[in-house]
Amino acid sequence: MGEKEELRNGDYVAKKPKLLKLSISDPEYLLASEFSHHEPGTARINNGSFGCCPESIIAAQRTWQLRFLKQPDHFYFSTLRPNLSKSRAVVKTLINASDLDEVSLVDNATTAAAIVLQQVGRRFSQINDTVVMFHCAFPAIKKSIQAYVTRAGASVIEVRLPFPVNSDSEIIAEFRKGLSKAKSNGGKVRLAIIDHITSMPSVLVPVRELVEICREQGVDQVFVDAAHAIGSVPIDVQEIGADFYVSNLYKWFFAPPSVAFLYCRKSNSSSSTMHHPVVSHEYGNGLPIESSWIGTRDYSPQLVIPTIIEFVNRFEGGIEGIMARNHEQVVKMGKMLAESWGTSLGSPPEMCASMIMVALPSKLCVTSDDDAFSLRSHLREKYKVEVPIYYRPPNEDDGENEPRHKDGLITGYTRISHQIYNKVEDYYKFRDAINQIVENQQVCKMLSTK
Ligand SMILES: Cc1ncc(COP(=O)(O)O)c(C=O)c1O
Repeated sequence: MGEKEELRNGDYVAKKPKLLKLSISDPEYLLASEFSHHEPGTARINNGSFGCCPESIIAAQRTWQLRFLKQPDHFYFSTLRPNLSKSRAVVKTLINASDLDEVSLVDNATTAAAIVLQQVGRRFSQINDTVVMFHCAFPAIKKSIQAYVTRAGASVIEVRLPFPVNSDSEIIAEFRKGLSKAKSNGGKVRLAIIDHITSMPSVLVPVRELVEICREQGVDQVFVDAAHAIGSVPIDVQEIGADFYVSNLYKWFFAPPSVAFLYCRKSNSSSSTMHHPVVSHEYGNGLPIESSWIGTRDYSPQLVIPTIIEFVNRFEGGIEGIMARNHEQVVKMGKMLAESWGTSLGSPPEMCASMIMVALPSKLCVTSDDDAFSLRSHLREKYKVEVPIYYRPPNEDDGENEPRHKDGLITGYTRISHQIYNKVEDYYKFRDAINQIVENQQVCKMLSTK
C-alpha cells in the first residue's frame, strides 16, 4: 500500500486530502489551481459544447483507472458494480427520482437517445404515427429519429421554436399548434421530444408546461433532451413528469468525457423493454444493470460522480451557488456585448441558464450556415476566441417583425457560455474582436472572396 492510499472495506482507496474552500468569483485562482490544462490565451466562452473538467476530478479519475489496472479481476468482481450504484444514487438525489432503478449511467445524450428511440421505433405501427419535436432539436438526435423511427414508417412534425423569443407563452403556443397538426388526419402522437435547453439557438424551454400539454393531448411518451441541464438548472424529474429525461454530466457538472444519466420513469409501461444498444453479459437484467457493463472499457467517468459532489461543495452554495453565479454573469456579459455592438439579446434573462444568445452586428454579413462557420473559425484562428455562431434565416412571412440593427436585418447570433473559470476579459476579447472585424470589414471581404 502506497503512502497516498488506505485500506477501506477490504479495498485500497486514495486517502482523502483536506479540501480547501474555493471562491466562485476568483477565476484567476481557479485557472491556476483547477484548470491549468486549459490552453493559455484562448478565451473559452463555449463551455456548452464540451464542458470542462477540473484537475481534482481528473486526479480522481486517474485513481479509478489505476485501481482497475492494478487488479482488474478484483475491480470487475468486487469494486465496479457497488461504486456505479453509488454514482447512480448521487444522481437519483440530485434529480429527485423516486427509485434508483429509474437511473442509468450511459456515455452521452446520443446513446440515451438511441436507447429511447430504439424502443419507441418498435411501437410504431400505423402510417399516421407521429413524432413531434422542435425544428432546432440537436442534429444528432434528428439522425437517430431518421434511423430508428422514420424508417419504421413514422412521420415527424417539427415545431418552429420562436427566436428571438420574448416569453414562455410564445413557445407554448407554437407547441400546441404542432400537436394539433400532428393529430389532424387522425394521427397518433407516439412520441414528443422536448429540449429542456435547446442547443442552437439556446433557449431555456418551459419543459414542465409542455409535458403537461402532452399529457392533456394524449401523447404516448415524452422524452426530454436535457443535454445541457444538470449543473445549469435545478432538475426535479417527478415535477417535470416526462417518461425519459437525459442530461450530460460532462457539460455543466464537471465530469470528464463522457458520462450522462438517463432517467426512465418506473411507471412507464416500456421501462422493462428498454435496452442498451450495446448488448453484453447483462442483457435482460434491466437498463441500469445492462448499462453498467457494456464490455471491457474505461468506466472511470461514471465512477467519479461522488467526487464531483465534493468538488462543487467546496464552493459556497455548492452547485446551486455555481448555477446562480453562472446565470448572473452570462446575462451581465451578454448585455455588455449587446450594448457595445448596438444589438440585443435573443431571449429575456429568465429564458436562459448559463448560456445566452446575443445578436451580432448585421455588418458581419452572416447570411448562411457556412458564413457562421467561417466566422467561428476566423475568431478561433485570428483572435483565439472560441464561441459558436448561429445563422438565423429571416422569416419571409413576417418581415415587419424581423430583428433589426442600425445597418440592416439581424441574421447572425452568438451563443456565449459562462463557467467558473471564465474571466470578464474573455468577453472583452470577444467584444473587441467583433468590433475590429466590423471596423475593418474583414469578414465581409473574407466571405465575398470564398
Ligand atoms: C440538446 C443536445 N442534445 C444532444 C446532444 C448530444 O450530446 P452528446 O454529444 O454528448 O451525445 C447535445 C450536445 O451538445 C445537445 O446540445
